[in-house]
Amino acid sequence: MTMNSSAAPAPGGANLDSLGSLVAKLSLDEKVRLLTGETIWRMHAMPHIGLRSVAMSDGPVGVRGTGEIEGATSLMMPSPSGLAATWNIESARRAGVMFATEARRLGVDVVLAPQVNIQRTPIGGRHFECYSEDPYLTTQIGSAVVSAMQEGGVAACAKHYVANDSENYRTEYVSYASEQALREVLMAPFEHLVTEVGVWSVMAAYNGADAQGEAAPMTEHDYLVNEVLKGEWGFDGVVMSDWMATKSTVASALGGLDLVMPGPGGPWEDNLVQAVRRGEVPESVIDDKVARLLLLAQRTGALAGHGDSLPAPSRPDDADFLRTLAAEATVVLRREDDLVVDQPQVRSIALIGANAVNAYVLGGGSSTVYPHYVISHREGLQSAFPDADITLLRGGSTLIHTPRVDVETDLTDPATGAPGVSVTELDSAGGSITSHVDATWNGWHRHPSAACTDVVLEADLQLLEAGDHRVDVGVVGAHRIVIDGIEASRSETTVGQEAILNSSTDAPPGFGLTVSATEPRKVRIRVELKTIDAAGFGRFARADFRHAKPGPTIEDEIREAVDAAREADLVVLVVGTNSEVESEGFDRLGLSLPGRQDELVRRVLEVAPDAIISINAGAPVLLPWLNDAKTVLWSWFPGQECGNALADVITGKTEPAGRLPWTLPSSESDVQVMDTAPDADMKLLYPEGVHVGYREWERNQKTPAAPFGHGLGWTDFEYSTAASAVVGDAGIVTVSVEVTNSGSRAGTEVVQAYLEAPTPFPAGIDRPARWLGGFERVRVEAGQTVSVTVRVPRRAFEVWNSATHAWNLPGGDYAIAVGRSVRDLRARSTVSVSDAND
Ligand code: BGC
Repeated sequence: MTMNSSAAPAPGGANLDSLGSLVAKLSLDEKVRLLTGETIWRMHAMPHIGLRSVAMSDGPVGVRGTGEIEGATSLMMPSPSGLAATWNIESARRAGVMFATEARRLGVDVVLAPQVNIQRTPIGGRHFECYSEDPYLTTQIGSAVVSAMQEGGVAACAKHYVANDSENYRTEYVSYASEQALREVLMAPFEHLVTEVGVWSVMAAYNGADAQGEAAPMTEHDYLVNEVLKGEWGFDGVVMSDWMATKSTVASALGGLDLVMPGPGGPWEDNLVQAVRRGEVPESVIDDKVARLLLLAQRTGALAGHGDSLPAPSRPDDADFLRTLAAEATVVLRREDDLVVDQPQVRSIALIGANAVNAYVLGGGSSTVYPHYVISHREGLQSAFPDADITLLRGGSTLIHTPRVDVETDLTDPATGAPGVSVTELDSAGGSITSHVDATWNGWHRHPSAACTDVVLEADLQLLEAGDHRVDVGVVGAHRIVIDGIEASRSETTVGQEAILNSSTDAPPGFGLTVSATEPRKVRIRVELKTIDAAGFGRFARADFRHAKPGPTIEDEIREAVDAAREADLVVLVVGTNSEVESEGFDRLGLSLPGRQDELVRRVLEVAPDAIISINAGAPVLLPWLNDAKTVLWSWFPGQECGNALADVITGKTEPAGRLPWTLPSSESDVQVMDTAPDADMKLLYPEGVHVGYREWERNQKTPAAPFGHGLGWTDFEYSTAASAVVGDAGIVTVSVEVTNSGSRAGTEVVQAYLEAPTPFPAGIDRPARWLGGFERVRVEAGQTVSVTVRVPRRAFEVWNSATHAWNLPGGDYAIAVGRSVRDLRARSTVSVSDAND
């Protein structure tokens, strides 16, 4: 069976065909001009046909805006995997509404979200930006976000189509997943978003993919884009390239790409006009692309006569929503005692950890938004425990790089003594073009003037403490760094677009010196930088000023933290990752917590066994002390309400009702994909086939630290031993089970239904040991028993037959196991399904 194509129609019932007359009003030059962005975040306007410019913005944790509103800030949600951890469709819908209202407020028509790639490996740099290692959970959360966003008149962009599951060499590798794995796992969320939700745009990934014998970049994949996405699934929206992903003119134009982003520049524009004139690309192909852009414009109110964007509705409760969301997403990994702390008993709190001092509230890369504010852990706890004294201690640095200076307080212009950094642009002859003092230098000099080839930064750093100071500058590309009159580093190696896309410019390597001070003094820092031309991402120069003061060693800091923990009524220990670990542009090197955090936890637990441990990370980290702790919470990258959310969990205001959307390993050797390097031919093999994530753990019966679906909440549940499953209309199976809240607090249960294939199964078709078929989230009063019915869609039973290239429904007796996680299955039933093949 092939799913029906039921893409949601545009408002007013418009479709691609109805836009033909408008397309006919445009010359070939005008049509092709529309097919490359006007700027990094905008499409071209064409006023004579009533088309205004369509604006776009990242991304999955909020709407950053186009940068055109000076100093604009945004609402910042928990990381997408945190949203998925709620397993709460209503929360996902509410997030979609928030995307729509934020987009309208910031003048954005297309939000470059959600990211529905599958978490294939925990070392994937953008793991935190994806929802889950399971395609069904990914689909359910993504669908709710997209439909609510689009009901608000704002286009979603499902990205990155497809098999863009790791970062290293992302612009070069070609993913080789089996046809079955592509269809059942990697493409499944995209298919649903197109056929059932009607997403209005899709982003073609940087990487290539091998499918049906075609191994091609996703920006030119005739089979996956033209045949499957637009043909088989009936997608009527816009396929845009990932930023600067397009490498060809004719192949990409014929391969189904509709819009090259960003612009201006890139391989289309005049090259494409010429290719059409030479007959290499039929003009009808161009017309189809233009009609798609116009339909997108019509849907988002950018085409005259089709309802300009409505005024942005105000949503005063957004901060409350984000606070509740971050708390409800929290997964209780361990709970030995009651989770809720008795507030009046607490007079002193030891708040410990590098992430307690500096929470990592969102992962690195293009999903970054600049929040209106962030509630720190200290602020959150202090308002929840107003009478308690809080001692905040880092317990040792966890950074590889020297910490960034506070520019406004620590750096001054050498010439005037004014706070900030002196920034001078030079031309190729070394002549000065402009010079100014930047009091809020954020590490980037963007959009230098046309003649500028070099940028010189100068600043004095005030050394107040006697002793050894480490002074570094983190730079990208060719540079010379002089500190205190000594050349600390020099490099003639220039970098360009590819290097920028395949690395992290957020946390670049640093170079510097150790300088000593016997009394307060200044140290002069001079940084000479070659400007970098990153094509569509613009030209820039990049340097972070970094400084470590003389001070206690990590050992001293751990000892101090342990002493504070020993004395405090309540110990809250926040451990986690940081921008050097989880970011777009590179994959992780391993799964351990950075620095000496494991040791810190063990030593704190020795003196404070009741310590509450909160993990501030997106993707799995190893927690070798997990079973020695009484309370362990997985708190994600929590977004702007960070401290409030943790305080709400600890004080019992909001139930931490999260369930893991991925598997938490207890050792790296148990993880099936720990290497994301393609081979010498840039082939990235997917030997796991359909056994992605927990499916592999089930196949091999390895024991994870916490299984997929795990989360203890704050109460306990018992299940009836029997479950009953029935086949209903349209092949939907429902399975019912009785669930009793056996604890003393009202709480939330996520009832999960896993399917097991009949044996024997048709030869040649691989099936996971068990896979998620459906789930239902219920709130149950203390002591109450409720009957919960989980709906399992027909697609859950279907397999992709790679011999016939079609969906089949192999008949037989399927077991349905219902429970609290994939490893905590409480009741079973069987359902008899009859054969149905396309
Ligand atoms: C990322 C996309 C993002 C785009 C624009 C790319 O590098 O892969 O996810 O939407 O940049 O920022």
